[in-house]
Amino acid sequence: MSIIVTGGAGFIGTTFVRDWLASTDQALDPVARSETLITLDRLTYAGNRENLDDLNNDPRHIFVRGDIGDTNAVEFLLSTHRPRAIIHFAAESHVDRSIHGPADFIETNVTGTFRLLEAVRSYFSALPIQAQQSFRFVHVSTDEVYGTLRVDDPAFTETTPYAPNSPYSASKAASDHLVRAWHHTYGLPVLTTNCSNNYGPYQFPEKLIPLVIINAIAGKKLPIYGDGLQVRDWLYVSDHCSAIRRVLAAGRVGEVYNIGGWNEQTNLAIVNIICRLLDGLLPRADGASYATQINFVTDRPGHDRRYAIDARKIEHELGWRPAETFATGIQKTVEWYLANPEWIARVQSGAYRDWIATQYGD
Ligand code: NAD
Ligand code: TYD
Repeated sequence: MSIIVTGGAGFIGTTFVRDWLASTDQALDPVARSETLITLDRLTYAGNRENLDDLNNDPRHIFVRGDIGDTNAVEFLLSTHRPRAIIHFAAESHVDRSIHGPADFIETNVTGTFRLLEAVRSYFSALPIQAQQSFRFVHVSTDEVYGTLRVDDPAFTETTPYAPNSPYSASKAASDHLVRAWHHTYGLPVLTTNCSNNYGPYQFPEKLIPLVIINAIAGKKLPIYGDGLQVRDWLYVSDHCSAIRRVLAAGRVGEVYNIGGWNEQTNLAIVNIICRLLDGLLPRADGASYATQINFVTDRPGHDRRYAIDARKIEHELGWRPAETFATGIQKTVEWYLANPEWIARVQSGAYRDWIATQYGD
């Protein structure tokens, strides 16, 4: 028995792989303790092999550097490891990068997912009936496919019409449609999850929360797009991963599950919370608050104003709830970045510096 995790060296995939192998909630899935987990990751700028280094001596983990769009490589993995499930995280994931260069997003999120689905379909169709019945393809997607909300709109449900606004969300929406069609047309047993913004350890510092933590302690400006009153619904990354495990174990095939933590906050509020935490944990030498580093910058083109997830379906059907509050999750996150300066230094490569210069001009 095995499972294949695509994109397992990225931010969320790292936590998924680590939490899965730590197997703290075996009640959810008793088979998982002994089976092999294969991480398939191309190691783009966002993938980091080092995130999984401490699993090197775990015989249940195999790391394979490869592309989800490389059909030969994927077919080889499928026929060698005979997985009972695929958890599909691999994607280009950063909205701002998708605005500067959408081609990679189409290549991986759309074409790559298509090629992966085709390879998995071919593998699935040759499985014995019993193995087909238990096989699952879990597609990890985003709430951004639903577009943007006004301040008093109800939160996104699983039946909210798709209205993606960025190249990133459009490419994820396309992948969701492909996954849905491979179920309806070919009977592939898929489950799709649409989750809100994640935060936590190992997040690449191009996204708001790690960028702000890292810039703050480096004495740099904290860039806030536009008026900073855009709203995101933040979920701690290990809660997202526990929801995916729950969907894999008990979700109904062909269904979509929205995942969120009922935690809507403006960007400005998030940045102020981080500054207050840092003021307590690592006071600035001059005694001033890190909030004095806040700097309002030009808004993102087409910036979605508000995302919010109605998570009642996964709560009622599968009994999933987040374990962390925002207060506990953000404290852990800030402490993790403070405790891991070497990790931060290593991900701030030349490519990262190029991105920061392109996006922020410094
Ligand atoms: P990430 O950018 O940190 O990681 C993506 C990983 O995929 C990287 O390790 C990268 O090397 C790998 N990858 C990229 N292209 C690949 C390819 N062609 N073949 C194999 N591997 C490839 O992203 P993340 O934040 O961990 O997001 C993971 C998934 O979760 C994505 O599908 C994203 O759309 C979804 N999601 C993310 C969030 C969030 O807030 N970060 C919220 C909801 C859903
Ligand atoms: P981000 O972490 O890129 O996630 P997403 O765009 O997928 O929601 O951004 C979160 C919010 O923070 C979003 O409204 C854009 C905003 N933001 C800033 O204000 N400044 C920044 O430097 C970044 C990276 C994001």
